[in-house]
Amino acid sequence: MASKATSFLIAGFLLGVLAATGGFAWFVRGQSLHSSTHTATTVLKLAHGLDQNHPVHLAMLFMADRLREHSAGTVTLQVFPNGQLGSETECLEQLQRGALAMTKTSTAPIEGFVPQLAVFGVPYVFRDDDHFWKFIQSPAGRELLVAGTSVGLRGLCYYDAGSRNFYTTHKPILVPADLKGLKIRVQQSKTAMDMVEALGGSPTPIAFGELYTALQQSMVDGAENNPPSFYTNRHFEVCKHLSMDEHARVPDMLLMSEKVWQTLSPTVRRWLQQSADESAKYQRKLWQQESEAVLAAVKQEGVTIHYPDKAAFAAMVEPMRRSYDGTDIGRLLKTISEIE
Ligand code: GCU
Repeated sequence: MASKATSFLIAGFLLGVLAATGGFAWFVRGQSLHSSTHTATTVLKLAHGLDQNHPVHLAMLFMADRLREHSAGTVTLQVFPNGQLGSETECLEQLQRGALAMTKTSTAPIEGFVPQLAVFGVPYVFRDDDHFWKFIQSPAGRELLVAGTSVGLRGLCYYDAGSRNFYTTHKPILVPADLKGLKIRVQQSKTAMDMVEALGGSPTPIAFGELYTALQQSMVDGAENNPPSFYTNRHFEVCKHLSMDEHARVPDMLLMSEKVWQTLSPTVRRWLQQSADESAKYQRKLWQQESEAVLAAVKQEGVTIHYPDKAAFAAMVEPMRRSYDGTDIGRLLKTISEIE
């Protein structure tokens, strides 16, 4: 039998290996040294690509607070903004491996893992905000949230990401023909590429964290996003035209690594889900306030806001929408269109 000292050595070695291979990167379960009852603590890492002033980041900090409260301090959520732990696609891959506990991404890059989510990238699917939220809260919307569980990506909640609009460095987009010949940055998503192509532009996928420089160095002529992201990532410094064509409502999703989820007790899972739900509610309110405030702020910064005729853009992408007929996405589009 191994002596006590040898056992310690072996245990120490194994811990070292785990730490060195990143086995503990996402999750630390330890014993509180301060408590005589030795309370177990769990630390979960959540990485995303948005700025720390963004309303979605603030909602995740709110979630961390709620979680601390529900768990009486035994579960800690550490939030890493600004793409510190990788691009959205890289974070999704880390979740699949269990190397990162949580991420928040747009549903656009998740399409590569969960094809049904492409439905959100199809342009002009929702009549307005109300229509969009009715779908999100419907059985089909809730089903989409957990559709990635079988590929290791468990959705905990949606966050409002408003609607996406084109912004450009030089030429304003007033009609679809204005996109002709322009290089437009898109997310890592086939639907986003197809949409820009259908409108006559030239789609260029670039990671969000690299977009400011790409715009500044004229690698692209423009991009598309919601006003809070346009503002908090300071893209307004290089793009002086914002066209509110509202071509798509692509939500954000808070995701948990299914591998990590499986290691958590039912109680911790319940705390996590409850905190995520509370943060989603908080975020939706914050989003409404912030979306209006940032439009005023970018105007102050010299941005001209255009309100083009949306019908002209919607007509151009009609063949793209019809191309889904007879597919799962087509069926989802039908479900959405039937919501009153
Ligand atoms: C939105 C979304 C981000 C995403 C970004 C993008 O801002 O909230 O998650 O990274 O769009 O265009 O890449």
